[in-house]
Amino acid sequence: MKEIKIKKNCFKISCIGAGYVGGPTMAVIADKCPHIQVYVLDLNKNRIKDWNSENPKDFPVFEPGLEEIILRTRGKNLFFTTDIEENISDSDMVFLSVNTPTKTSGIGSGRASDLRWIEKCARQVADASNGHTIVIEKSTLPVRTASTIKTILNSPSKKEDNKGKSFAVLSNPEFLAEGTAINDLENPDRVLIGGEDEKAIETLAGIYKNWVDDKKIIRTNLWSSELSKLTANAFLAQRITSINSVAAICEATGADVNEVSLAIGTDTRIGNKFLKSGPGFGGSCFKKDILNLVYLCRFFGLENISNYWESVVNLNSWNQNRITEIVVNKLFGTLAEKKIVLLGFAFKANTNDTRESSAITISKNLLIEGADLKIHDPQVSEKQISIELEKVLNNEVNTSFESEFSKFSFEKVDDIYDAFIDADAIIVVTEWEEYSKLDWEKISRLMRHPAWVFDTRSIVNKEEVLKTNINLWNIGIG
Ligand SMILES: NC(=O)c1ccc[n+]([C@@H]2O[C@H](COP(=O)([O-])OP(=O)(O)OC[C@H]3O[C@@H](n4cnc5c(N)ncnc54)[C@H](O)[C@@H]3O)[C@@H](O)[C@H]2O)c1
Repeated sequence: MKEIKIKKNCFKISCIGAGYVGGPTMAVIADKCPHIQVYVLDLNKNRIKDWNSENPKDFPVFEPGLEEIILRTRGKNLFFTTDIEENISDSDMVFLSVNTPTKTSGIGSGRASDLRWIEKCARQVADASNGHTIVIEKSTLPVRTASTIKTILNSPSKKEDNKGKSFAVLSNPEFLAEGTAINDLENPDRVLIGGEDEKAIETLAGIYKNWVDDKKIIRTNLWSSELSKLTANAFLAQRITSINSVAAICEATGADVNEVSLAIGTDTRIGNKFLKSGPGFGGSCFKKDILNLVYLCRFFGLENISNYWESVVNLNSWNQNRITEIVVNKLFGTLAEKKIVLLGFAFKANTNDTRESSAITISKNLLIEGADLKIHDPQVSEKQISIELEKVLNNEVNTSFESEFSKFSFEKVDDIYDAFIDADAIIVVTEWEEYSKLDWEKISRLMRHPAWVFDTRSIVNKEEVLKTNINLWNIGIG
């Protein structure tokens, strides 16, 4: 076992990638370990500028509780910077927390992970590091990526740079859920560390032990750790898809999905979490991680298993699309010149993340049907909504932005009640708490009738809606 010698007078961690995982994860480590120096590195200058902003509203990631942690640690033992090489060079431990999206071209396009960012940062560490460095996969990666990372680390671009360098590679996937990231990081169900180098494993475990009980720290081999992250996300996504499929059966049969969830969730083998039906799962991870698993299965010749997991993604797309079909049917088969209010654009409540949000697919479909869309979200900016819709509509019309995109009518609204004036329908897409407290009497007076509310999250106050003359459609009930 190699002795881990601290390079400076204080243990130093760097994390490459200041995103939804790197930012909150490092903030919590810095908060729980004041004796450790934590540097969050990113090549995106704007992102780093925003993390360093005096105004917490500028922070690139919104998570309940994050702002307070950043404000008490930043500048003390937590630093956000674009000085990547110089900070890698004297770090004892480097986390790789960069994006690993699905490949969009070439071999494995649409399924395999695009590993260009992880490869690039492994090369940066190979070249810039000094002495012994523990390198940790924090990104979600295909099984056996650690082997690629080891190869790169042991081959710096100039051979003479190799002198005196050594590495231990660990897998330490992140299980936080956006919207509850800080609570998940502070009170994790488990911490998973995969690796072969015992000393490195215990050094990393030692950091977590500052606030996590050792019993919750699971040590495995590298490949089990990498595969566990993909599997966890595949199971979670499958569970959402299962309850969403039951929701559709409920709507067809007169059963109530909330009652079914309650009834099955009391079975301890099933458990009551993650049984809420909705407009389909979103977020940057579930789809890409299942597709990654699908790709791996095909690669290893496991065709039936690959098809099984792929069907989860296909059913989720179906679920996202069926919401629009219901809306169009209820609104007499056309949305032309109809004003529709979309409540929520983030993929779930308590985050500003819009990646793979069902709101994108629903908005796209409504706009193609000719609707005039007013979109409200307490945390997502107008710019972000525009970026997402521009991307998806341009793909759809497969033509130039100038000639086609301008045809679509949508805007972000800040005053929610203003948006309801003369609206034909309201669709609740994200489960922000404020949408459960709306004044339906007032809304009914503002809307054009016959008016509809489509609740894809089962959060509106049904009794209050039913007191008005607004029609209500509720997911999993009808
Ligand atoms: N978002 C989640 O909820 C979540 C949860 C668990 C795991 N993960 C995984 O964690 C990883 C990161 O996800 P994220 O949501 O934080 O991504 P993100 O896109 O928010 O952040 C990644 C950051 O890495 C930076 N980056 C990329 N290459 C770089 C390089 N060579 N040098 C410096 N910076 C570089 C990018 O500029 C970006 O700011 C992914 O593999 C993801 O699957 C995400």
